[in-house]
Amino acid sequence: MTESDLRDLLCELGASLFARGYSVGSAGNISVRLPDGYLMTPTNSSLGRLDPARISKLAPDWSHLGGDKPSKEVFLHRAVLTARPEAGAVVHLHSTCATAIGCLAAPGEDAPIPPLTPYFVMRVGRRLPIVPYYRPGDSAMEPAVHQAALEARALLLANHGPVVSGKTLVDAVYTAEELEESAKLALMLRGMPARELTPAQVDDLLSTFG
Ligand code: 13P
Repeated sequence: MTESDLRDLLCELGASLFARGYSVGSAGNISVRLPDGYLMTPTNSSLGRLDPARISKLAPDWSHLGGDKPSKEVFLHRAVLTARPEAGAVVHLHSTCATAIGCLAAPGEDAPIPPLTPYFVMRVGRRLPIVPYYRPGDSAMEPAVHQAALEARALLLANHGPVVSGKTLVDAVYTAEELEESAKLALMLRGMPARELTPAQVDDLLSTFG
């Protein structure tokens, strides 16, 4: 895809996430890896009203090259894209249910959402680490996020929201959506005797779908 196509797709998918309530106000940010740097949503922008011409462009060393000022979460995106060279995009949302799981006092280490459905396992994987709370935009989060991203495709920022990587922008968005819906199921079923997928079923999904 050309950079121009990716700018258009970023705006289209941002608007779709916003329209369906996965982000509200100016919450959330998205980055895309390019051959010559990165695209990033501008700080304080609504995912619902992005302008392709104003998307921030960053150089390979993450310095600001053009467009509006990038998201304050540039350290977050850098940590994930550096840890996962195969990732082409990162989506950070404040989607309600995934954020709620990250607010639980005892969410369950590395697997705060149980494997209830195949698509959660196929898209998010076995592990969903929770990174301790940092102020939004705090560069001090970078080592902790980097470490979590080495081990997992998606993570939760405690008391803040989900961060998801994907091979492509579309993959990252689909995974962010699946994570939010899985978090909703987990909260709906909390306290009920739910039937989780067995370890053998999880292994089967991961070996079949990667
Ligand atoms: P930006 O507006 O700087 O992207 O920050 C929004 C956000 O989601 C903070 O986590």
